[in-house]
Amino acid sequence: MIQLFMAMALAHFPTGNFTSKPVMAEATLLKSLNIPMVAEDKAANVGVAYVNARQVHEISVASHALGRCGGYEDLELGDQKAMVNPLEELQALSRAVAQEEANRYLKRNIKIDYNAEVAEAVKEVNADNLRETVVFLSSYPDRYNRGPSPNKHIEPMMERIAAVMQNYSHPYELRRIRHESTKQDSIGITLYGNQRPEELVILGGHLDSITQSWTNKIAPGADDNASGSANLLEALRIFAANNQQPQRSIEIFWYGGEESGLLGSAEIAKNYRADNMEVISVMQIDMSLVPGAGKGVIGSIADFTTAWLRDLMLQINDHYVGLEVREFNCGYGCSDHASWFRQGFATFAPFEATMNTINRRIHTSDDVIDDRSDFLHSANFSKIALAYLMHMGNSDIRGF
Ligand code: BES
Ligand code: ZN
Repeated sequence: MIQLFMAMALAHFPTGNFTSKPVMAEATLLKSLNIPMVAEDKAANVGVAYVNARQVHEISVASHALGRCGGYEDLELGDQKAMVNPLEELQALSRAVAQEEANRYLKRNIKIDYNAEVAEAVKEVNADNLRETVVFLSSYPDRYNRGPSPNKHIEPMMERIAAVMQNYSHPYELRRIRHESTKQDSIGITLYGNQRPEELVILGGHLDSITQSWTNKIAPGADDNASGSANLLEALRIFAANNQQPQRSIEIFWYGGEESGLLGSAEIAKNYRADNMEVISVMQIDMSLVPGAGKGVIGSIADFTTAWLRDLMLQINDHYVGLEVREFNCGYGCSDHASWFRQGFATFAPFEATMNTINRRIHTSDDVIDDRSDFLHSANFSKIALAYLMHMGNSDIRGF
């Protein structure tokens, strides 16, 4: 249920030369900072507020104190201002959360059995390949959507994707996706299913990078998110090398513009909802390289994700990987899974560590390969992705 605070809404809506901007953040955090909300969703513990620069700073400081990242989501998306109506955003989120609550009760017991073929495929994941892709991507000065050359890496990345598809003899389409809210493109590939091609099993991560430093504009983004981008490519390589057409269609996205407000994924997810696409599930990989919570430990993002898929991930982990998985909340839509979740699609998102053990060097020129980078840790994420594609792509499991 959304509560709208009209008096406050009027008081805080932009008028004339306003210097505040709409953000979405954890409601309890906003309250603790005495920042008035124009709307709040109690179940989701999310609120919309118009904040000035000082309040943005307060939110960031408070979130960092809680061991979190940015702490809020900028609703003034895109190159143009006010692309989004914050109240509509909150309503969409509210619907998605209500649906997720309902699903939790309706949730059937979805069980996957150990599969020897999947186990064999998972063994093929190669940490050196991951390193090679991260070296390649992090060698660009930046992959920033508002930078001088936002698409420099797109064509070379597409060549790498085409290269891993070479021995795949079934129908597929690799495409460059242009956007309205950013000059930066996304990349998508569809491997068409042979039994229920309209059913989509989706995997994604963002390809762009950012630096928040005012002086050093280099944004290698090795961990955030060359690592996840490499995980997708490695999972695809092994899937394609097996050369078995899936029953359902599999789609993999390397999104643009994530770092400026989930721009690429927001457009794609909105279009899929508008076109009534049958999205069965969405997996997101954002950061896999630095094992901040320990070598055998990963996180699983609990907000803006779906219970039955988080549970499926635990089963995949038990069958094929064997890590300790700790659930944690971002407190806001911290990556592209939130774009899909907002449109009512089912999501899950494994993460390199937990919120309070996150790599502090992201969004700086120091997000490079260094002695804390662990490509064997990162390899686990390609294993989970590959097992997810093989199981979900070849079954009629669904959460609805
Ligand atoms: N990789 C981060 C997100 C992240 C941070 C996930 C911490 C899990 C834990 C992502 O690229 C990012 O920076 N997101 C922004 C928000 C986005 C809406 C611009 C953030 O967290 O500030
Ligand atoms: Zn980031």
